[in-house]
Amino acid sequence: MNLLEADLSTLRLVPLKEGYIPAILDIEQVVNGAPWSYKSFTNELDHDHGIFKVAILDAIVVGYAALWLLVDEAHITTVAIAPDYQRRGIGRLLTIEILNEARDRGMLSATLEVRAGNEAAISLYENLGFKNVAVRKGYYPDNREDAVVMWLYDLDSWSDK
Ligand SMILES: CC(C)(COP(=O)(O)OP(=O)(O)OC[C@H]1O[C@@H](n2cnc3c(N)ncnc32)[C@H](O)[C@@H]1OP(=O)(O)O)[C@@H](O)C(=O)NCCC(=O)NCCS
Repeated sequence: MNLLEADLSTLRLVPLKEGYIPAILDIEQVVNGAPWSYKSFTNELDHDHGIFKVAILDAIVVGYAALWLLVDEAHITTVAIAPDYQRRGIGRLLTIEILNEARDRGMLSATLEVRAGNEAAISLYENLGFKNVAVRKGYYPDNREDAVVMWLYDLDSWSDK
């Protein structure tokens, strides 16, 4: 079956479990220029000031998204979709899921940093209402790429259109 034609009716967005981490690391290696370590993911299991959701399609880990809850701000730390499953709406669904949960847990705004050349991610976030508010020059240590700082204000009254 062509993956683009496969439907998402069996897609589940579930909390991170340790058993998902090997599959997450496989995705991380191919989509993230500065991949997180195994320990970085296990750290996400051990605190309650974060939200980490994993997308499972037909028993396959296809993506994940996470944020930290810092006072009243939701800081998105990662959103990633396996290459074979991109452009099917899963990244958008995952991001909406974590933002909705952050809002329901009392966060008033959301923010993130994204590589200036990452047009796909910037478009995803802009479509959800994030605004480009600043640039951090040379922010990424692997290639000194600039970071765009984005904010979604009024998360408390936000909903995806
Ligand atoms: C960015 C990423 C998470 C998007 O996930 P995805 O599931 O492919 O995205 P979706 O199918 O949900 O698309 C949602 C929106 O994102 C934008 N988008 C996604 N892929 C895009 C691309 N290749 N080019 C341009 N815009 C793109 C579009 O605005 C799209 O809306 P549209 O389909 O109505 O045009 C995915 O490309 C990815 O994992 N990239 C590598 C990791 C990464 O860069 N993460 C972000 C770190 S800040």
